[in-house]
Amino acid sequence: MAEPYRIKMVEPVRLLSRPEREQRIKEAHYNIFNVRSQDIFVDLLTDSGTGAMSQEQWAGIMLGDEAYANCRNFQNLENAVHKVFGFRHFMPCHQGRAAENVLFSAIVKPGMLVPNNMHFDTTRANIMANGGKAVNLPCAEALKPFEDKPFKGNMDAKKLESFLSENADSVPLVMVTVTNNSGGGQPVSMENIRRISEIAHGYKKPFFIDACRYAENSYFIKTREKGYSDKTPMEIAGEMFSYADGCTFSGKKDAITNIGGILAMNDSAWFEKCRARLVLMEGFPTYGGLAGRDLEAMARGILEGLDGDYLQGRTAQTRYLAEGLKKAGIPVVWPPGGHAVYVEAKTLLSQIPQSEFPGQALAVELYREAGIRACEIGSIMFAEKDDKGKMHYPELELTRLAIPRRVYTNSHMDYVIEAHRKIKERKDSVKGYRIVKGDGPLRHFTAWFEPVEN
Ligand code: F0G
Repeated sequence: MAEPYRIKMVEPVRLLSRPEREQRIKEAHYNIFNVRSQDIFVDLLTDSGTGAMSQEQWAGIMLGDEAYANCRNFQNLENAVHKVFGFRHFMPCHQGRAAENVLFSAIVKPGMLVPNNMHFDTTRANIMANGGKAVNLPCAEALKPFEDKPFKGNMDAKKLESFLSENADSVPLVMVTVTNNSGGGQPVSMENIRRISEIAHGYKKPFFIDACRYAENSYFIKTREKGYSDKTPMEIAGEMFSYADGCTFSGKKDAITNIGGILAMNDSAWFEKCRARLVLMEGFPTYGGLAGRDLEAMARGILEGLDGDYLQGRTAQTRYLAEGLKKAGIPVVWPPGGHAVYVEAKTLLSQIPQSEFPGQALAVELYREAGIRACEIGSIMFAEKDDKGKMHYPELELTRLAIPRRVYTNSHMDYVIEAHRKIKERKDSVKGYRIVKGDGPLRHFTAWFEPVEN
């Protein structure tokens, strides 16, 4: 099936000449985050906040009720949240990391441990900022990029059991991220969510979902897990959240908004604590850092994001890009997830050691070759020194091609495939990078690099 929408407004983009691109990436200190948006031709940096809103969402923007307290848009959002997420309490936040900040600053104390299938970088950073430690417990196949399994986002339930049996006193909550963004955008099965929930509750620990891509995860459960093919994505999302005690959520992904997020939970005492933090950091509990119009776009987007036809087109486009790259001989994480295709850069650029960031080298090369912006999800983001100063590198060294929702056509995808093919042809000439400036768990946003000349 073709995309279930028509395009009625366009935003022109321009491809700079090769010398101009060389100049721009050098001026950006080889950090693609520093390149100006108007100098990018196809922007696959993120699927977050970059989606094309629908006519219903834009119409909703015009219905913004900008009263300080209890605006109509909050009530509409409340109805949508109640329908989809179903938790007893919720608060809007300006985006996902704000929900994380509110939650973790209220409940994480120094020395605490938070297990997850795989934390996203802002989740990990917010836990660390409160003195806690973020612990990843992915299933074994999550770390095998080419193994074709349907639910590689699953948490390792046995590892969680033994982790809790040793550390339960230090664990404030158990989390699962759907889909697993840091591990290739892979979905988590309903069976796994149910099991993790049982284990967490067995230790009397609340179970929270990082729900950024709840709709794509629901669609994968529908198409890949036995017993769900006749259920709607809405019913599946409802079941998923019924096993949880709360969620953090960035509306910038599956609710297809340009800004917005929510924090939801059942526990009233935690809610009171979080609400006090919210007022301090984000705003009054009925707007949480957003304008009324943004609340309305999110209310509409939460429901729209679950449309089966939309999700079919969305996941088909991601698969189209992944299959095209695979056919061109580019190693990509398999099977493709929902929001992005991940190139395994240390296999593609095998001459570059992890200490010289092959994922970053590919991202720079994509800009040079074709004005494409991609994002490293590898050693720049996740390499960490231990207490003795020894560097530990992540097992996956990925370059992520995140696809904004409803923005690009498959001819853009063909263009991206062709750029990879050209880079592969001259791959031995691609150089690694060293960091000139920048440190800490969020250094990927701001670090400066230079090519390693050898
Ligand atoms: N959790 C996950 C799994 C995410 O992917 C993100 C954001 C967040 C939390 C934070 O949400 O951006 O609204 O503050 N991911 C974006 C990305 C930035 O590019 O993957 P946010």
